[in-house]
Amino acid sequence: MSILVTGGAGFIGSHTCVELLNSGYDVVVVDNLCNSKEESLKRVEKITGKSVSFYKVDLLDKVSLDNVFSSEEIESVIHFAGLKAVGESVEKPLEYYHNNITGTLVLCDIMRKHNVKNIVFSSSATVYGDPATVPIKEGFPLSVTNPYGSTKLMLENILQDIYKSDNEWNIIILRYFNPIGAHESGLIGEDPKGIPNNLAPYITKVAVGQLDVLGVFGDDYDTHDGSGVRDYIHVVDLSIGHLKAIEKIKDKPGVAIYNLGTGKGYSVLDLVKAFSKACGKEIPYIIKPRRAGDIAKCYADASLANKELAWTAKRDLDKMCEDAWEWQKNNPDGY
Ligand code: NAD
Ligand code: WQD
Repeated sequence: MSILVTGGAGFIGSHTCVELLNSGYDVVVVDNLCNSKEESLKRVEKITGKSVSFYKVDLLDKVSLDNVFSSEEIESVIHFAGLKAVGESVEKPLEYYHNNITGTLVLCDIMRKHNVKNIVFSSSATVYGDPATVPIKEGFPLSVTNPYGSTKLMLENILQDIYKSDNEWNIIILRYFNPIGAHESGLIGEDPKGIPNNLAPYITKVAVGQLDVLGVFGDDYDTHDGSGVRDYIHVVDLSIGHLKAIEKIKDKPGVAIYNLGTGKGYSVLDLVKAFSKACGKEIPYIIKPRRAGDIAKCYADASLANKELAWTAKRDLDKMCEDAWEWQKNNPDGY
């Protein structure tokens, strides 16, 4: 029996494939490579010495997806595939709703047809909007401010409705905070197209000399140094969270929701400092105006995942920066 990883060639998916393979699972990947390269899966095979069964298939292509389920013995699905750029989702709402929502509907329909009813879904801390207090618990009110966030919240609701209609489904929704870092081999990591929108890949591009200077979006937030505070989590810790979810999914019937974060908040300037230490050079930065839609502070209370999944993030900010730098310096142009 295999685990199907949708979006398995992407940043978090490729790291999760490594953890699954290292734990003895057989892995099937479906990815249309719209935001990734097959090379990431070749590197996964190099790291683990095991093979991945890869299908270049779009989730919107129902016939091809059906064929994958007919050809493979799939037990559970980890569903990463989706478009994830907040700003782009505002420009292209139709593409985001269609890809993320319809893609998931097609996936769940084919899963039901093949009687595969275990799914781990990638949600996001973005569903908490601007929280009244931190750390954030799973029961906090939910709200979203952009089409990307709406797709995550809608999909959480859709999955709950699927369970209500059929109690044989086992659904784990994981709300990630800010995944950064890379596998410590330096072989796989984050490979954004064009100029990165997110902080960590922007910093690594400055460190490797491809971008001149980091813009720090705001220094007047109510935080310890005025810059925005986030819960950065090492992508390998996040991947291990998925492994724990897969291990528990059948003992936890129903819909379970967990925050995956470290529980610690670091500012933009903290990250700049930690990264400078890791790469041994100064990261030049300038203070810019606040970015529209940003919030001051966002970090998790991850105690529920600790209690119910026996999971906790172990890698600290220095390790996140060291591993991200190892990946970037070995692969300045990505895959
Ligand atoms: P990524 O873009 O690196 O990976 C997503 C993968 O899905 C890509 O390989 C892409 O080619 C594939 N894909 C997209 N649409 C597809 C489709 N219709 N059919 C088949 N494949 C398709 O992104 P990531 O950072 O690895 O994120 C994985 C998941 O986690 C996403 O759902 C994202 O929304 C969610 N998430 C990411 C973050 C983050 O900061 N990286 C935070 C919270 C949640
Ligand atoms: C982090 C901090 C910025 C870039 C996003 C999504 C969220 C989730 C994770 C998917 C903020 C500051 C950034 C830069 C900066 N993704 N910043 N200069 O916005 O917390 O979360 O990714 O689900 O949904 O919204 O992450 O890395 O963009 O920003 O100063 O060039 O860095 O203002 O304080 P964010 P980020």
